Amino acid sequence: MKTKKSKQNSAPKKPKAKKSKNHQSRPKKHYHNVLKSLHQKHQHQKHEKVRELEAIAAELAHENGAEKSRNGSGGKKEVIVKVKEFNFFYNKGKKQALFDINMDIKENTITTFIGPSGCGKSTLLRSINRMNDLVEGSVSSGEILVFDQNIFDYGYDVTELRTDVGMVFQKANPFPISIYENVAYGPRSQGVKKKNVLDQLVQDALEKSALWEEVKDNLYAPALGLSGGQQQRLCIARAIAMHPKILLMDEPTSALDPIATLKVEELVLNLKKDYTIIMVTHSMAQATRISNYTAFFLKGELIEYSSTKRMFTNPKDKRTEDYISGRFNG
Ligand SMILES: Nc1ncnc2c1ncn2[C@@H]1O[C@H](COP(=O)(O)OP(=O)(O)O)[C@@H](O)[C@H]1O
Ligand SMILES: [Mg+2]
Repeated sequence: MKTKKSKQNSAPKKPKAKKSKNHQSRPKKHYHNVLKSLHQKHQHQKHEKVRELEAIAAELAHENGAEKSRNGSGGKKEVIVKVKEFNFFYNKGKKQALFDINMDIKENTITTFIGPSGCGKSTLLRSINRMNDLVEGSVSSGEILVFDQNIFDYGYDVTELRTDVGMVFQKANPFPISIYENVAYGPRSQGVKKKNVLDQLVQDALEKSALWEEVKDNLYAPALGLSGGQQQRLCIARAIAMHPKILLMDEPTSALDPIATLKVEELVLNLKKDYTIIMVTHSMAQATRISNYTAFFLKGELIEYSSTKRMFTNPKDKRTEDYISGRFNG
């Protein structure tokens, strides 16, 4: 990503702590300017996000919930995530978890990742919003393009990436605050302050997460008092209150009972019109129930990636066939 050099003359600062070896040759001023312009850009984007959220809230108030699809989908779907020759390693390169992954994911679709435990599904999912950056000693090569921009480019703004790419985890993890505050958390942290805007965003997110009817009279009750299924829907509400473009979900129903699972599946299907959803599932039945596309992984490799219907009726690869027919044992 290109970074503009700041025109303003800035006060010299103390040298930063250690820099990684391959960057040592760059002059300090360069770093200073890059950091400064990143900060300015981030502030600008934050304001932009606030404006976007305020506009959405106004639209919602006006249309009384009948939200238009802002992506203008209807025609040909665009590729929103493009994975190119992507390799991923843990433990400073000692453990390779993904091998040469290539895949295109289209907007407003649901894609499921399936495969035996340990085959790299979560690793790939977490790479898409650079959550794996937090794992010490992890290294990757190749590219992941989100909206045509390589998220690993020097200077790429990870904070912005995470406002566009939300995440829901296997275990519901609401904050120990009220239901309302959990959902308002994201917009608030971006700088949305107006109560009516927050109220609108919270209600909309809770409605889309099929939780509103159950909690509307109790919005200020502690989130941790909700049932497991409700907590997971709250986490979905928390993610979508930010109006991300992409929603990553890592086995979001594996800790839920069948009824709570169906509720989450139903709401995920409803979200498809506004979001692109990428979901890891251990359940092939779930993949067939909800997804448009399925990717089958084995030992870090993407073995087959096609429409869900095709994968489950006419798989190309013998290994896929063995796995989906339950004949797989390794
Ligand atoms: N933080 C980590 N450190 C080292 N190895 C890891 C880490 N997370 C996952 N792995 C390894 O990477 C491989 C892929 O894991 P993962 O992506 O979690 O698989 P899946 O989600 O398909 O079960 C596994 O062999 C796993 O043990
Ligand atoms: Mg996993």
